[in-house]
Amino acid sequence: MIQPHGGTLVSRLIEGADAASLLEAAQALPAIDLDSRETSDLEMIAIGAMSPLQGFMTHEMYEGVVEDMRLPELSHGVPAGAVWPLPVVLSTKKGAAAPEIGSQAALRAPDGEILGVIDVSDVWQPDKKRELLACYSGSGAEADEDHPAWQWLSSVGDSYVGGKVTVARLPRHTDFNDYRLTPYETRNEFAERGWSSIAAFQTRNPIHRAHEYLTKVALEQTDGLLIHPLVGDTKSDDIPSSVRMRCYQALLAGYYPAERTMLTVYPQAMRYGGPREAVLHALCRQNYGCTHIIIGRDHAGVGSYYGTFDAQEIFDGFGDSGLKIRTLRFEHSFFCRLTGGMATTKSSPASPEDRVFLSGTKVREMLAAGERPPEEFTRPEVADILIDSHAQSAEAD
Ligand code: ADX
Ligand code: MG
Repeated sequence: MIQPHGGTLVSRLIEGADAASLLEAAQALPAIDLDSRETSDLEMIAIGAMSPLQGFMTHEMYEGVVEDMRLPELSHGVPAGAVWPLPVVLSTKKGAAAPEIGSQAALRAPDGEILGVIDVSDVWQPDKKRELLACYSGSGAEADEDHPAWQWLSSVGDSYVGGKVTVARLPRHTDFNDYRLTPYETRNEFAERGWSSIAAFQTRNPIHRAHEYLTKVALEQTDGLLIHPLVGDTKSDDIPSSVRMRCYQALLAGYYPAERTMLTVYPQAMRYGGPREAVLHALCRQNYGCTHIIIGRDHAGVGSYYGTFDAQEIFDGFGDSGLKIRTLRFEHSFFCRLTGGMATTKSSPASPEDRVFLSGTKVREMLAAGERPPEEFTRPEVADILIDSHAQSAEAD
């Protein structure tokens, strides 16, 4: 089984009597309110998905990450230099006071539920503009205030709070509860299925034929495929995870070999961090036990900040001290009319006119009009679910 990032799978989740007494003691502590992204991060830290992190980043960790994409030496035996591409930070909220260094604070989810505590080892004021520019600029453009990352940065207060967390209760979820496997659980499942090479597919979209192709090419080479949709926060114009899950289930039922495919969810909130986020997606999937991750065109991209293949090239910069998980890289994939099958520019001599390509806007227009995109683009079962969800949201408006 592939090693977790940093060597050991972290668990910051306690159970039973320990959890009950922690929650009781936490009632008496000052509370820090988590927003939805921080709640997702806390869950991921607790279950080991963000190993080797044991808590929200300290100032020193944050500096290493923003400047060099590397963590300093960590107290639990992780040597300096582990790759980490994006801040995982806890913010104070506007109007709220920062906690004292050395104190403990309760961590309160947006629904008011206390989930655990943080041992506050650090409080500092980040330069948000610098974080934006350093982490979210690509070869396409410098990050600016239109970048979704700025929305988050400008929504939170002035300070970040670092420290180790102890979680006594995972965030309450009403959806996908059968699909919320922890890294420990996916690793066990892989072992039970006898898989030693596993390709992860990160997605925040319905699976169209182009996506399906990448996963099928991966399946030709690996023991198994983990379809691992991100179900934390996404932009409001991305398709909601509840609708996407119905699409994935329909595809799995008809188009994937059940004994070689798994579908579970990935709780992270989307950063739209392009190359840096691709690295985050990869190292977290390594923690879940995956040996490979699919990285196609403009992975985790938004607008035109990133070059089409920035998110592939970034992996070349880490050398031997990088990740253990390997990337499966893909050019733009499409249905090719000339060769009569799915292809990429690497495998078909077709000219652009032979490719079935629809823009996101065009697809949205078709679905809104109740029209199925061509079968070469979207499976009819998936199209019907998307049309149905459009009709329902139009009714609700
Ligand atoms: S995201 O995390 O990258 O934002 P998205 O659902 O858009 O998720 O894409 C999932 C994966 O499929 C990414 O690795 C992306 O690069 C890849 N991908 C999407 N469409 C294509 C395509 N037409 N050709 C090649 N790769 C693609
Ligand atoms: Mg995309």
